[in-house]
Amino acid sequence: MTKRIIALPGDGIGKEIMDSALRILSEIMVQDSIDFDIQEYPFGGAGIDSEGDPLPEKTLKACQESDAILLGAIGGPKWDQAPKRPEQGLLGLRKALGLFANIRPISVPKAVIHLSPLKEENVKDVDFIVVRELTGGIYFGEKRLDEDQASDLCTYTKTEIQRIIRKAFEIARTRNKKVTSVDKANVLATSKLWRQTADEVAQEFPDCTLEHQLVDSAAMVMITRPKDFDVIVTENLFGDILSDEASVIPGSLGMMPSASHSESGPSLYEPIHGSAPDIAGQDIANPMSMILSAAMMLRQSFGMEETAQKIESACDQVMNAGVLTKDLGGNAGTREFTDAVLKELRS
Ligand SMILES: NC(=O)c1ccc[n+]([C@@H]2O[C@H](COP(=O)([O-])OP(=O)(O)OC[C@H]3O[C@@H](n4cnc5c(N)ncnc54)[C@H](O)[C@@H]3O)[C@@H](O)[C@H]2O)c1
Repeated sequence: MTKRIIALPGDGIGKEIMDSALRILSEIMVQDSIDFDIQEYPFGGAGIDSEGDPLPEKTLKACQESDAILLGAIGGPKWDQAPKRPEQGLLGLRKALGLFANIRPISVPKAVIHLSPLKEENVKDVDFIVVRELTGGIYFGEKRLDEDQASDLCTYTKTEIQRIIRKAFEIARTRNKKVTSVDKANVLATSKLWRQTADEVAQEFPDCTLEHQLVDSAAMVMITRPKDFDVIVTENLFGDILSDEASVIPGSLGMMPSASHSESGPSLYEPIHGSAPDIAGQDIANPMSMILSAAMMLRQSFGMEETAQKIESACDQVMNAGVLTKDLGGNAGTREFTDAVLKELRS
């Protein structure tokens, strides 16, 4: 059956790297004799410019009716003073689609291992996933800001914790079967409920192991022994910080994809970086983050494991052959890198 994909190129380098991902998907359609119905819609700053809204109604409707969504990146100085900011579109889309689980895979391609800020022996073979709860916790609790006092309420329900822990175990089952649940159970009540619930959910997955780590310890292990991790699961605020810490391990943001899942609706796939206005329009952005986001979509939304692996390995081969974009110390342009991946896919 035809898969309906909504492409939201967004702003800045979003358009350039989306073009790369769509070229790869066109090739996949030919190679795998599969039909994707891909439609582009305005979103973010582009939505403000064309429809006066970062999340235009027609864009939201198309996303809700889709099988999966690909997002480039949004934002830029042009809209910094606008009454509605592009980022509001992303928050609105996450909320409307109930995207509660954010998934970030972290690995370091061999060709660029020397770019990691960590010691080579520590990052060789690093391969883990951060599963971050995205719709609960302190970001969404009641906020008070008085002149000399302020508070942010952190709330989690058992159901919210159960569904994200289950998601982590489901992912771990397809990998090395180890879940590290990160909390601050020595201090926080929400973390105590988190830990107790993680232990209960673990009973449903007897083939997997569960370990608990305090967030301060997890932050240290991520730098000293990142190979220890398989699947990390944590709440919204800790996940925000730990996933950004993890994202510097490979040495460039330009290689890193992510996925956000709801309970039953379409998932959203996007690079972890922003719209990089400093390099937009110059054909120098690394398109790998977007191409690998498309590969994640094929794997996680459409069950196309082999095809996803084919794309990932084509990117690796191209980098091993020395075709690298500027962020990785090379001089290949966005289109040139994409051409090389296409050539590798066809070989
Ligand atoms: N999900 C999103 O769309 C998202 C996420 C973060 C930031 N933003 C927005 O993006 C805009 C720019 O933010 P920023 O500059 O702080 O972060 P950024 O991630 O856009 O850029 C940070 C640095 O990384 C580089 N970079 C990022 N992606 C790259 C790629 N694919 N190839 C090569 N280099 C790359 C940039 O050139 C820049 O030097 C802001 O408006 C911000 O709000 C959007």
